[in-house]
Amino acid sequence: MTLVTTLKAAGKKVEEAFAPEPRPNEDMDILKKLKLEHDQVQDLLAKLVDSEGATERRALLKQIKALLVPHTRAEERIVYDAVRAGRDKKMKVDGEEGYLEHALADKTLATLGKISNPLSPEFTAAAKVLKELISHHVDEEERNIWSDVREKFSDAERIEMNRAFDIAKRKVKAAH
Ligand SMILES: [Fe+2]
Ligand SMILES: [Fe+2]
Repeated sequence: MTLVTTLKAAGKKVEEAFAPEPRPNEDMDILKKLKLEHDQVQDLLAKLVDSEGATERRALLKQIKALLVPHTRAEERIVYDAVRAGRDKKMKVDGEEGYLEHALADKTLATLGKISNPLSPEFTAAAKVLKELISHHVDEEERNIWSDVREKFSDAERIEMNRAFDIAKRKVKAAH
């Protein structure tokens, strides 16, 4: 079975389970979708670090979590697993590195969630760490993983990957 047919079959199955949801955008390259979300989350992280209001910081953290968690989980399933599935050692390392950096982001998000005062030095420090971590991760991902994706998958497969990515994200959101 080719990747496209596998993804189509998996997508159809999940779509049936989430029938009332609108159909995902079918014509976007997965890399374009990832770029949009990277820009969005980095913008929110910059606002979080700059914000001086407790309520605003809490709201921003909530938005960051709602964007970052489905993005990373779906990216692992649809992008990293596809990249590290072959024999190419460099691609395997890129995929593993992505997983490790996502785990660090999860840990920092959890730390932020436990700090009761959003204006405390602890919160500010953790917000800065998350911002720096994501900035480093996005730079590397867009350089390494994306060149792997371009090398390995056709334009049509990348559009199919975007559909599968949207569906995987909805699944993560439904589980939270
Ligand atoms: Fe990403
Ligand atoms: Fe990532």
